[in-house]
Amino acid sequence: MTAAPARHLRPTWYEIDLGAVAHNVRELRRLVGPGVAIYACLKRNAYGCGAPAVAPVCMQAGADGLAVGNIDDALAIRAAGVAGPLLLYPSCLPEVAATVEALDLVPTVSTVEEAAAWNAAFSRRRKVFLKVDVGLLRAGSMVGQLPDLLHALGRLDRLEPAGLYGHFFSYGAAVTAGQYEWQFARMAAAMRAAADAGVALPIVMVSSTSAVLDHPEMDLTGVDPGRLLYGLSASAHPARHGTFRQALVGFKTRLVMRKTLGALDPGDFALPFAPRPGMRIGILPLGWGDGLPRPLPEGAAALVRGRRVALVGPVHLEHTRIDLTDAPDATPGDEVVLIGRQGDAEITLAEAVALWGIDETTFHGQMRDHIPRRYVDLAG
Ligand SMILES: Cc1ncc(COP(=O)(O)O)c(C=O)c1O
Repeated sequence: MTAAPARHLRPTWYEIDLGAVAHNVRELRRLVGPGVAIYACLKRNAYGCGAPAVAPVCMQAGADGLAVGNIDDALAIRAAGVAGPLLLYPSCLPEVAATVEALDLVPTVSTVEEAAAWNAAFSRRRKVFLKVDVGLLRAGSMVGQLPDLLHALGRLDRLEPAGLYGHFFSYGAAVTAGQYEWQFARMAAAMRAAADAGVALPIVMVSSTSAVLDHPEMDLTGVDPGRLLYGLSASAHPARHGTFRQALVGFKTRLVMRKTLGALDPGDFALPFAPRPGMRIGILPLGWGDGLPRPLPEGAAALVRGRRVALVGPVHLEHTRIDLTDAPDATPGDEVVLIGRQGDAEITLAEAVALWGIDETTFHGQMRDHIPRRYVDLAG
């Protein structure tokens, strides 16, 4: 008998609706039209949904390229057999130039120093994208320093500038009216600097999820949204109206044991929680090391046998209790839903994260790569 791969033996999994990702890319295409390049942002292992599975779906649904925040995601995408433009946001050093060449990746260059280092590391001419800092004060060339970078590129024989992009500072409520316009003016200045230096850049993009939805006029020749691909569109008053479907449809596990606590004599010891006499509990094989909140908020729940039961804290590294008082028939092996549907009952992602004190995007960013993903197509 052949043993199942270790990741399939763990009875905890995410359910990802790849049909939703495909729908969201097609919806994005409908909104931006045929003339705007879509670089699907697959940062953080496709926002936790698994870059090797999400990448081909995005390309088949009409994306022109992909963008990742770390080279290991790029490696996984290529290992899955996905071809096409693959942009590396600033995240690696020129010491990985041989891999960049072998896998045909497009690194980002923001400074003269970086450009010289990539140029020295490459064995032949390669496309690079330039990044400009429009107000985020993170990676990217300051607008005033872009002319120096553009002129330096003219002297470096192995770098072929093929694109220019920026990323808006858009931290929710912190963005005030006019702040996009102020940042977009920096992008426009960067485009003028490129034109003045005679550098033609086929792809120019600055819009990710919020700007794509709120500022259609800022599309330029490309857009690189992430959140909306996974149904995490976050605009209260969008100028563009799309229907985006949520990609994460389940965070599920299985009951591994149950027991009745019986009579307890705590003596001088403090118990981890205050058990009711004769209380029945079940044990789940996941904890805060797998993404559950630590400490557990009041009201946190799961579904078992179609009924809502309370999680009982404290949450441990890889174990959590549930109160089986209202589901005394629950049996080891039963599916337990932390997020998703079971029969007529449902715990939505929005409900869970509101209780856990985080937002939906943060949940996606914290999805664990050691937890298997099961791919479904709810429309299919
Ligand atoms: C450079 C860049 N482009 C695009 C994105 C995608 O942003 P969003 O998920 O808000 O669409 C990010 C996200 O961090 C980013 O850093």
